[in-house]
Amino acid sequence: MTPIALPPLTKDLVRVLIDADTIQRRVNELADIINRDYDKIEGTLILVGVLKGSFIFLSDLCRKLNVKHAVDFISLSSYGSSSKITGNVRMIMDTRENLEDKHVIIVEDILDSGHTLDYLSRNFAARKPASLKSVVLLDKPERRRIEFKPDYVGFEIPDVWVVGYGLDYAEKYRTLPYIAEMLPVEE
Ligand code: IMP
Ligand code: MG
Repeated sequence: MTPIALPPLTKDLVRVLIDADTIQRRVNELADIINRDYDKIEGTLILVGVLKGSFIFLSDLCRKLNVKHAVDFISLSSYGSSSKITGNVRMIMDTRENLEDKHVIIVEDILDSGHTLDYLSRNFAARKPASLKSVVLLDKPERRRIEFKPDYVGFEIPDVWVVGYGLDYAEKYRTLPYIAEMLPVEE
């Protein structure tokens, strides 16, 4: 196979924080752990991806799962400016599946303040799933405003804005194959 040329860093991007091979290796490890943990479950496993940032992570992860599962999506929005943390999370699009009695794993690109996952896990818990866990590709523990402990974490990263592998800045850089650190953004 001809190697694919990596898109070069632009002037907005400081450095590659996690390269594509490292991401793939970690996604495979997460899938192995999930395969082991859900090997013996009764009933249905549903992965619920939080749009849009998780779609690439979710699609790589689910193709490495050998436990039977369904895929669903949810879309949320925060009130106010996207770069400021307000803690007001609102549902824009709900899952199509009923989550009652299902084993649910929330799939999120990045855990930052914790408001999104705190909101989602409380919202989902009220629907009486058989079990509820969360997997995040990236975790910025320094930014936490509200305590939240995800069940599976890909990488802990410092408090910098990152793009690529599904994550964007104003819809830019989402499809970069690696995760790059951006120059600090003016707020
Ligand atoms: P939280 O509710 O503050 O934990 O924020 C989670 C959401 O903020 C994520 O799902 C992302 O959509 C977005 N986000 C936080 N940090 C970054 C980043 O560095 N790059 C891109 N999106 C981010
Ligand atoms: Mg997200």
